Order: sequence, then structure tokens, then C-alpha cells
Amino acid sequence: MDKLVIEGGVPLTGQVTISGSKNAALPILFASILLSEPTTFTNVPMLRDIHTTLKLLSILGCPADFDNNVVSMTPCTLSPEAPYELVKTMRASVLCLGPLLARLGEARVAMPGGCAIGARPVNLHLSGLEKMGARFELEEGYIIGRCRKLKGAHIIFDFPTVGGTENLLMAACLAEGDSILENAAKEPEVVDLANFLIHCGAKISGHGASIVHVSGVSSLGGCSYPIMPDRIEAGTFIVAAGITDGELVLQNCPSEELDALLVKLSAMGMHFENTKEGLLARRRNGSLRGADVRTQPYPGFPTDMQAQVMALMCLAEGSSVVEESIVENRFMHVQELARMGADIRLSGHSAIVRGVGQLIGAPVMASDLRASASLVLAGLAAKGTTQVQRIYHLDRGYERIETKLAAVGARIRRKKE
Ligand code: EPU
Repeated sequence: MDKLVIEGGVPLTGQVTISGSKNAALPILFASILLSEPTTFTNVPMLRDIHTTLKLLSILGCPADFDNNVVSMTPCTLSPEAPYELVKTMRASVLCLGPLLARLGEARVAMPGGCAIGARPVNLHLSGLEKMGARFELEEGYIIGRCRKLKGAHIIFDFPTVGGTENLLMAACLAEGDSILENAAKEPEVVDLANFLIHCGAKISGHGASIVHVSGVSSLGGCSYPIMPDRIEAGTFIVAAGITDGELVLQNCPSEELDALLVKLSAMGMHFENTKEGLLARRRNGSLRGADVRTQPYPGFPTDMQAQVMALMCLAEGSSVVEESIVENRFMHVQELARMGADIRLSGHSAIVRGVGQLIGAPVMASDLRASASLVLAGLAAKGTTQVQRIYHLDRGYERIETKLAAVGARIRRKKE
């Protein structure tokens, strides 16, 4: 198992190019199941979750080549079973459910199960697909779904679930008749999926708003499509500039989609500027102050940036309160940050962070993707050496993170344990 060894205390300066978005690429790749023609995806990040997705897609009948951030996919005969061995390593595998039912009328997808960041059920995916005519049963840990031909439906989500909206959006594209998805997720990654489907011939309107209309079509073709840049990777590098008191310019940064984060970080004392090269991020005048944050569905503050911003709060003057309202049990980084000298108290779904003058390097354990990013950020600012163990979580979602950080001055290296 690899670990990252970081000598903290170096202000990061220079330019970083933001990679394609993991959370946009995953549903878009799963949408290949819907297509009848070859498709090329560009700006695909070289990540563990993408390799897992491509492995699963090849089992489902969509083999692909992946080289140099380009995926070339050629659909062939589809097969309905997503095996547990792959699904258990990546919850997003459940995104094949809607497309398989739409194309084959049958799906056998292993139940994703619990993961480090809470139970995260898929009930809203299933009830939406049931409204379109699918029937489900659970057999030996597998969700077995069957339908004749999916029928358009009016689906009102109890909660604007990102994956649920994506699954239903994909299914509705090939369903018979019109669908309305109400209280749909507005995340930019959902919009990127909708735009991709439209490029392939789908009839979708309203994506990015809470009511999305879809008119089913009989088939979808292929296209060449660039995946949007990763707003969470960008946000993580922005915090890296702030936490090390450095100055980074982010090329290919989706600034508009980061609005809620930038507003909060500005209130904490960071400064942002759009330059010819990209978004410049640094502290305004040296010090940072605390702020209160509540995670919310887009366009609110993203839960995927909560852990990283908490690392920054550890070094800000005064107190901050972080309320996690989206994902259960997403405070796994707190105990580890505390090992580095952070002063954080947990109370239910909230964390109260009191700024400390300095974090101290320590061996720490990554527990999930964004918690790992938070520990790397803390390590970049800490005095002394931080060893972040179990970084396979980081490899799921950050493309060449140590190479990118080292290129802007970080003293960071990967070591085999
Ligand atoms: N939920 C339900 N029932 C459902 C679906 C969701 O109760 O059927 C609840 C769960 O409590 C869950 C919460 O809603 O914890 C949010 O779930 P959502 O469906 O919105 O999220 P997701 O599709 O499972 C995506 C991202 C996550 C990100 C969340 C929230 C992908 C592949 N994953 O997950 O990203 O945290 O949206 O924005 O797009 C990450 O990248 O580190 C990550 C975890």
C-alpha cells in the first residue's frame, strides 16, 4: 500500500492544470450503455474509479480503449450483470441500472452496500425506475430489475439526489413518451451528462434547473465529447494555495461552478482573480479568519469540499462551524486532523473548529477520498513530516496529485509501505 510523505511549510506557487471531472466522467461513461454507435470521450481523468468503470462496462458489453485521457468506446452485445467484485469497490456502479433497464429491460446489479461515508442508500433510484415501469427484487445481494419497455413518468424526488437524477435521466432518454424529473439535482456534473446525451440525440430540456423534461427517443447515436473540468480538484488546489500562503493559477478551472466555495473562501480572507492564464488564488493579506459553512445541494456549498475547507479552518483565526447536511458520517478526517494538533469538536452533524497557530506533522490515515485530500492539505501546511497512509482513496479521485503538487513546490513523495 502506498503512502504520501509530505514535508510541510512550503508556500505553493505556480500553475496547475485542472483535470477532467471524475463525477462527470462516471455517469457519462455509464451512458455508453444507451448508445448504438461508437463514441469518443476526451479529457477523461486517469483515475482508479475510471478504470473500474471501464472494467465494468466491458463486462456489460461496452469495451473501451483508454489512453492519454481519451476513451474510445464501441458498443457490442449487452449483458445485464454488474458483479459484486466491482460494484463493492465503487458505489457509482449503480449508475448502470437505469441504462441497462432502458436498453435491455433487465439488470442484475450488486447492491452497493455501505461505505466509509455512511449508508448512502439507492431507494430514490429504485422508486423512480419503478414509476417508469420497472420491478425490483433483491436476490443474494443483487438488485434484480425487470421491465418490458420503460414508460415516461413524472418523478418527484424527495431529495435532489445526484446519482438518482443521473440514473433516471439516462433511463428516460430511451423510455416511451415524456418524463418530468422534479426536484432534480442541479449539479454541474448532471448538466454535463445531459449535454452529452443531447449530443447523442436525446431530447432533454431544463437540465441545471430543478424540473427537467425528457422526451424519449428510439435510439441514441455516438459523438465525441470533452468531459468538463473537475470543480472539486480545482477547489482542493485553491485551498492548497490558501493553506500554504502561496499563490496558484488554475488553468482550465470551472470558476462559475465554484461560486459558493469562492464566496466562502473570500470571506475567510482569500483573494481570487481571473487572469489570462486562469483563476489566480491567494490570501488577501496574510491571515485567514474562521467562517461558518453548511453543505447543501448545488448551487450551495459542496459536501465534496467540506473536509478540505475544514483543514483551512484549522489554521484560521477564531472559530468556524461546519454543518454537514448531505452525507452522513462525513467527519472521518476530524480525528486525524486532531492528531496533527487541530482543535475540532464534533456535535451531531456539526463540527466546531477553533483555529490553532500551527499544525504539526504526524502519521495519519486516509479514510475516504475527500478526507484524504484534507489530510494532504493539512500536511502541506504543517510543521515537520506528515505521512498520509492508505492513499488508494486519493487515487480514486485525484489525477497525479503528488506530481501536480510537487510541480508547484510541495515537498511530497509517494512511498511504498
Ligand atoms: N440518498 C438517499 N437515497 C437515494 C440517494 C441518495 O437517501 O436513493 C441520500 C443519501 O443519504 C446520500 C445523499 O442522499 O448520502 C446524497 O446522495 P446523492 O445521490 O446526491 O449522491 P451520490 O450520487 O451518491 C454524488 C457524488 C459524491 C457527492 C454526492 C453529493 C458521484 C459519483 N458521487 O454521490 O461524490 O458527495 O453526489 O454531492 O458523483 C466524491 O466525489 O468524493 C463523492 C463522494
